[in-house]
Amino acid sequence: MTKLVDSFGRQITYLRLAVTDRCNLRCTYCMPAEGAAIVDRKELLTYKEMYRITRVLSELGVNKVRITGGEPFVRKDLMGFLKMMSFNELLEEINITTNGVLVGVHAEKLSEFKVKTINLSIDSLQPEKFAQITRRSVFEKVWETLERIEKSDLKLKLNVVVQSGVNTDEINDFVELTRDREIEVRFIEEMPFNGVGIRSKDVVWDYKRILEEIKKKHPELAPLPVKKSSTSKNFKIKGAKGIVGIIPAYTRTICSDCNRIRITSTGDLKNCLFDEGVYSIRDFLRSEASDEELKQLFVDLVSKKPKDGFAAEENRKKNKNVSESMSSIGG
Ligand code: 5AD
Ligand code: SF4
Repeated sequence: MTKLVDSFGRQITYLRLAVTDRCNLRCTYCMPAEGAAIVDRKELLTYKEMYRITRVLSELGVNKVRITGGEPFVRKDLMGFLKMMSFNELLEEINITTNGVLVGVHAEKLSEFKVKTINLSIDSLQPEKFAQITRRSVFEKVWETLERIEKSDLKLKLNVVVQSGVNTDEINDFVELTRDREIEVRFIEEMPFNGVGIRSKDVVWDYKRILEEIKKKHPELAPLPVKKSSTSKNFKIKGAKGIVGIIPAYTRTICSDCNRIRITSTGDLKNCLFDEGVYSIRDFLRSEASDEELKQLFVDLVSKKPKDGFAAEENRKKNKNVSESMSSIGG
């Protein structure tokens, strides 16, 4: 079987697929309050196109897909699409990143469609602060989803974007959640993907600083064995059921065994979170390309995957800074 291997010998086995660029929240680190750029519906990939892209990629060795957005559940009939995806026998696992607001009634059904893990975005445990960050009053809904997923067969990971001067005082409250719950709490370095550009910060909360903050309260914090291609470095506090992870999303120390590519909601392939869309798979599909041609295209594109997130950023056109929103890239 032809596989997707880049020029650094990394094999691609994981697709992050954004099913929409729309979102029902307006997180300050992700989108402006108003006028978030959204694209025309016909620019978006259809579910059929997404299925086909995934099928072809799975024949090239991709066995895991993460569904992202925007907010995936904002797209009409996401459950129908997940069901369709679950028919692809080459896929072992489908995971979803969601803000949790619209998951509610679907929580228990997801595991029927090969969904194994839910990454729930939750940046504060305080309802008012949560509303400030997301610009919507939805904490209770998200918490309800959290508890529902906890009770289901699904694995639960919490995504916490660490925002200087906003939620850094809650880092250890989040760590505390892992004591009695079988969950992973993952702290993510804030990136400048918000539709505007870098936000001024008093203190840079990078991986090292986050770790120091946790160790202040938990000096005994124990590192867990490193898992290949994992985006997070993982730890455990003494006697805890759950895991604490830190994702060096911005300092980019995890690129050397990257196994991922992304497809944006408009069908651009991205070899790296930090590069510009490298190729419109959508336009290629719509020009009536065959599956064989599509395969060859993926093989060629992946062979150009940049060494790391810094090289990818460098490659971008000079006049284009890293500033587009995660909602269009796919979180
Ligand atoms: N920095 C870091 N992570 C971000 N996300 C969105 N915007 C940013 C950003 N600027 C991630 C969050 C969220 C997911 C949807 O995307 O983890 O949970
Ligand atoms: Fe929506 Fe996620 Fe962006 Fe928040 S971070 S606005 S939940 S896409």
